Parts: sequence; C-alpha cells; structure tokens
Amino acid sequence: MTSPAQPDSLAAIAALPQADLKSIFTADPDRLSKLVLTQGPIRFDWSKTHMTDDLLSGFLALAEEQGFAARRDALFAGEPVNNTEGRAAEHPAERGEGNPDSVARAKALHARMRALIDAIEAEALGPIRHILHIGIGGSALGPDLIVDALGGDNLRYDVAIVSNVDGTALERAIRDFDPHATLIAVASKTFTTTETMLNAASAINWMVEAGVEDPYGKVIALTASPDKAIAWGVDETRILPFAESVGGRYSLWSSIGFPAALALGWDAFESLLEGAAAMDRHFRLSDPKENAPLIAAFVDQYYTRIAGCETRALFAYDERLKLLPSYLQQLEMESNGKSVTRDGEPVDGPTAPITWGGVGTDAQHAVFQLLHQGTVLTPVEFIASIEPGHTLDPAHHRALLVNCFAQGAALLRGKENPSDPARAYPGNRPSTTILLDDVTPEALGALIAFYEHRTFANAVLLGINPFDQFGVELGKEIAKSIEAEGPKGFDPSTMALIGLALGE
Ligand code: F6P
Repeated sequence: MTSPAQPDSLAAIAALPQADLKSIFTADPDRLSKLVLTQGPIRFDWSKTHMTDDLLSGFLALAEEQGFAARRDALFAGEPVNNTEGRAAEHPAERGEGNPDSVARAKALHARMRALIDAIEAEALGPIRHILHIGIGGSALGPDLIVDALGGDNLRYDVAIVSNVDGTALERAIRDFDPHATLIAVASKTFTTTETMLNAASAINWMVEAGVEDPYGKVIALTASPDKAIAWGVDETRILPFAESVGGRYSLWSSIGFPAALALGWDAFESLLEGAAAMDRHFRLSDPKENAPLIAAFVDQYYTRIAGCETRALFAYDERLKLLPSYLQQLEMESNGKSVTRDGEPVDGPTAPITWGGVGTDAQHAVFQLLHQGTVLTPVEFIASIEPGHTLDPAHHRALLVNCFAQGAALLRGKENPSDPARAYPGNRPSTTILLDDVTPEALGALIAFYEHRTFANAVLLGINPFDQFGVELGKEIAKSIEAEGPKGFDPSTMALIGLALGE
C-alpha cells in the first residue's frame, strides 16, 4: 500500500524558517496581542511557543485544505463524523449545542436524571451517605476529575470512584462505607465491560453479606444500553440512559456525570454544561485566527509533525486539577493514537504525541530536569488558576503561581555557562500557559470542552477519525479467550507467565 502524499500546505510549513524563542519577542513586538486569547474565564497564552505569523498562515491553509470548517459543521449537525462506526459524535448536544433533535433528547434525559437526583435527596432510596461509582475509562475519568476538582468541602455525599478490576481498589474504596447507606452507580456505556461488571457484582455481594435487604434497589445504571442493565437486575426507573452517539471519553456531560450532579448539586452540574456550551459556541462560530481549540491544534501539529516531538507534557499548577493529566491522556491518546486516515490509508507521519504530565510544583522536583536539560524537546503546557482553592496564607498561592511562571520563563530563556556545561540551560524550549480565573464549574466545563475540540481539530488536520478506539479491542479479546478456553497457542513467554502465576 502506498502512503498518501502529505498535504501541500504541510510541506510549505516545513520549509518555513524556524524561530528562536529567545529573540522571538524582540522580532515581533505585537506578539502578545496575536498569541494571547481570552475566552470567557480562560486566558490562553501561546506566545512562548514557536508559532509565528508565517506558521499561523501555513496552518490556516492546512485547515482549509483539510476541510476544517465543513467537518466542524458536520460535528455540530450530528452527521456521522465517526465514519468507521457509522455514528455521530454528539457530546455538544449534551450541553445544548448541536442538532436540535439530539439537543431535545439530551435535555429530556437530563430532566430524568434531575428527577432521580431529587428523589434520592428526598430519601426515596433510604438514607444515603455514600456514592460508590463503578466504571472505567470514560465512564470513570470524567466524573472523577469533576468531583475531585469541584468537590473539596462542598461534597454532599462521600464519593468513591472505582475502576480497576484489581479487587484492592474496591476493597479500599468501601472500607469506610456503610453498605446500608451506600448508593451504587454502575456506569458503562455498553454495560458489558468486564472490569465494571465484576466490580458491580462484588459490590452487590458486599451489600448482601451486610444484610442489605434489596441491594439492586440501591443501584443506578448510567448507560447507553438500558436493556442490558435491566437484564443485569436494575429496575427501569433507576436507569439513566444516554445516547449511543455520545462517545465514552466524551460522556461526562451525560448521565455518566451523575455522581458529580448528585454530590455537587444540580446547579453546579448545569454550570459545568453552560461553561462547555460557551466553548462550543466559540469553537463553532469564531474566526479560525481567533479560535482557541484550533490555534492550540496548530501548535500541537507544529511540534508533532514539524519539530518531531513525540510527547507533550502538561502540568496543573493547581491541586484541584491534579486528575486533569489522566483525563487528557484518555481523551487525546484514545482519540488520536491512530495510524490510518478516515479512509483507511496509512497516515504519512506521526499522529498523536504521548500525553503525560503531573502537578506543579511536585513535578519540578521530579521530572523537570529532563525538560530543562534533556536531549528531547517536549512542548509543555501549564494550567493554573488566578484564585486559590484554599483559605490558607495567600503565600501558598503566590508561591505556586510564581513557580509556574518561572518555569515557563526558564524554559524559554535558558542560561549560558561556557565554563560549566553541566550547569548550562539551552533554553528555546516552548510552553503554553492556560490561566483560569478560578476553578469554577463554568471554567472547568469550558476547559474540558476546549480540550475536546482541540483533539477534534487535531484529528481533522491529520485526516483521521478521533471517535473510534479499535486499538483497545485485541487485548480484551485475548483476555476473554483465555478466560473462556484457557491459554492456547500463545508465545512461550505468555504461556510461561500464565503457567507460573495462574497455574494453568
Ligand atoms: O476499552 C476502552 C473503552 O471502550 C473506552 O473507550 C470506554 O470509555 C471504556 O472502555 C469503558 O467502556 P464502557 O463505558 O462501555 O464500560
């Protein structure tokens, strides 16, 4: 099979002169006005990246060549943009943006979720103090992020989110929970995922052993497969469905967000949706030159396809956002970690970089050595909030932000030291800073929607489908076949491991 030729505009971008960050501001005094954009509660600063006017024009041409505007319109119209599975990708409809029929359906399902939440608050399921949310991947990472970021002291219930099939996770989560006062939310789009179904069954057993009279009466199912939830034992009245066209890693806005809506309150959940909707409108309506997700995708494309960076790192300089890197790992790598185009042709060049990261300032004392002096170039993204998440001495927040900004400056500026190379810093290392007014539901909703659309924009520029994830299937199939038929015909290493650890 021959590789498709790279788009002409990408070749033109590759031929452009590369800027040096140390002199980039003197070369263009207007740089901040062009590469800093404020959208609602978020300020995006790409000025410390290698983006120049010429690169921007080149990427705008690439976007046009790849039919960006039409593809974006197709996404919002509810067309089957997930072509390999013949489906739409309707997460924006959950926020009230998109195809009117899908928006109406999402609103009705949200009303159903709200009614059930009201009933739970009125103790229709008995007194509830703990929420045990069981799900994995997109059915866990989103709710976990939201509850952790916005919860703090405001949580109205204890919330445990259990994903791993390792029983240690469930055992630890329920250690301090009273089984008589626990609500189990089983979150699974397909309602067949092995880990989730095994954890859910064990949670039911835990209740049975504790003498809970009607354990299934304490289960809420969050799913796009209500029939399977009914067959498993959940009463229809406690099933909160969502549309098949909402992808797993894009599903926190649907009933998958149930633990957040219950524990934080409906107003907070609604504000999260409104924040995301504002970002939807920005992405859909604003000029490409001022479109935050699109510009961020241009920067991503530059580093991955032109500068050859294989990873991108992001550091949340805010404890409330400590789960953001894990959330974005799934969003970006499961979406764009592909090797073929929408039409099944091999992609010519790299697609998604590896997303990794952590929390500042902790990461400074662990991995930043490589960022400053290592031999690989890694574009860094800093995410911080002007307002703190605590009431302690303001010195804490000042130190946090000072450190965040100092790191960006150090990466850019570097430091010469001809007499002592071990103490020299090359500089010219790029970073983006995303500054939130505060970590509010609106801002978090907008931030997550920004990342979703940036991921989509990257996919359009690459010509790939970001909405399928066939890469995760083979390992699952093999695990199932071992469970069903025992180990047969694997390589000697796998056979030996199974023999040693499982005695088979
Ligand atoms: O294995 C990957 C995956 O399909 C993710 O895309 C998804 O978020 C996760 O598993 C969980 O799937 P489900 O919600 O169907 O249990």
